Amino acid sequence: MRYAHIVGWGKYAPERVMTNDELATLVDTTDTWIRERTGIGQRHLAGPKDTCASIATAAAIEALDVANITAAQIGLIIVGTSTPDFAFPSTACLVQDALGADTAGAFDLSAACSGFVYGLSMAADAIKAGSIDYALVIGSDIMSRLLDWKDRNTCVLFGDGAGAVVLQASDQPGGLLTSLLRADGSGGDMLYVRNNYRDKAVVSTPHLSTALTPPAATGDGKVSDAGYIFMNGREVFRFGSRILAGATREIAARAGWELGDIDLIIPHQANNRIIESAAKSLALPLEKMFINIEHYANTSAATIPIAICDAVNNGRLRPNDKVILVGFGAGLTWAAAALQWGTPRVLSRTNRTLNRVRLGLANVRSRARRVFRRLEDSLSSNVDHPVKSPVSPASGPDRSGTAVVETEREGKV
Ligand code: ACO
Repeated sequence: MRYAHIVGWGKYAPERVMTNDELATLVDTTDTWIRERTGIGQRHLAGPKDTCASIATAAAIEALDVANITAAQIGLIIVGTSTPDFAFPSTACLVQDALGADTAGAFDLSAACSGFVYGLSMAADAIKAGSIDYALVIGSDIMSRLLDWKDRNTCVLFGDGAGAVVLQASDQPGGLLTSLLRADGSGGDMLYVRNNYRDKAVVSTPHLSTALTPPAATGDGKVSDAGYIFMNGREVFRFGSRILAGATREIAARAGWELGDIDLIIPHQANNRIIESAAKSLALPLEKMFINIEHYANTSAATIPIAICDAVNNGRLRPNDKVILVGFGAGLTWAAAALQWGTPRVLSRTNRTLNRVRLGLANVRSRARRVFRRLEDSLSSNVDHPVKSPVSPASGPDRSGTAVVETEREGKV
């Protein structure tokens, strides 16, 4: 029988920290209000050079080091994110390229704040089925780029960050034992971000506009601006409290555990009070809940993998601990997993060094491949297509998720 164990973990929080007091200089709020209503004390904010892919890669490198494996061993990379750098290529492909993970499949998973647990469940199933031996599961979000910094209802709640784990196949019982994935799309209007390309579609393809028009926005008829978070805070609060308690009960029962058997619950970090209310409803002491929202705010798909790292670092995860992860978010989606924590591995310098060398080589190889493709394209277009393509093959993302768009593209496509 095959099991899937978490053997590596890593996180990345951008250097720039914004405290509640600093935020209070931008909008009408106070440190006291934010702390009392949410538990948040500060958030990390991505800098202009940070991309969803670059912060995901930083977390992944740390996770590979802890797992003591090289990127060449990874069979699958899943990135849970709501803030990808591009509609396509996926963030996961950019991470794959940056790491030089030659034999990995890679895709992004859109399940908002539940994305990491969704991805973990899918990767563990792939490992248990025998199709891969190692998977990298990442939650990465730059929520600050979806915020209206004039809207105090939402801008105080979110932060930026990434977390990653390495899952490994093993015949040792334990690891990710069972999981559940759920959705209720009827609640989509409680929490959403409209894409601006939907508006474009209505204008440019009127015959399709009925099918493409977004659902009438909120209960009160308010339509949020494209690209910004709309949230019905009170309803999301009720949903989160109900789901956190309900999903914990359900996944514990599936694992054959009594609630009292659970050593640690690592919930999505949306709001302290949601976590407190779930603990009360489960009749569990608050100490059973891992809470680190004070330091990062809500980093969406990244909250749970970042919390796993902090729980390890704080000695809150010990060998054989019975652990429950619960994510919930827009969609509506929710997901839970029961896992028996494995024995952390000893760090070895060998693979760490190998990984650094591989990263350097991946960079060179990625550039070489681009140049080669460009050469190949210009040679074949001279032969097959006398008219030059309007889109340069060099346009598009580079490996860090930064857009490289040549002016030639403008207005011609
Ligand atoms: N600073 C000061 N006052 C504020 C702020 C703020 N940042 N935001 C709202 N207020 C005011 C409101 O205007 C209101 O004033 P009024 O009474 O004069 O009208 C008052 O505070 C109370 O507002 P409520 O919305 O009732 O505040 P509530 O106690 O519900 O807290 C909050 C709001 C924190 C958003 C809460 O509803 C919540 O946490 N909801 C869950 C949302 C969440 O966690 N979202 C995260 C993303 S979703 C996810 O990850 C799944």
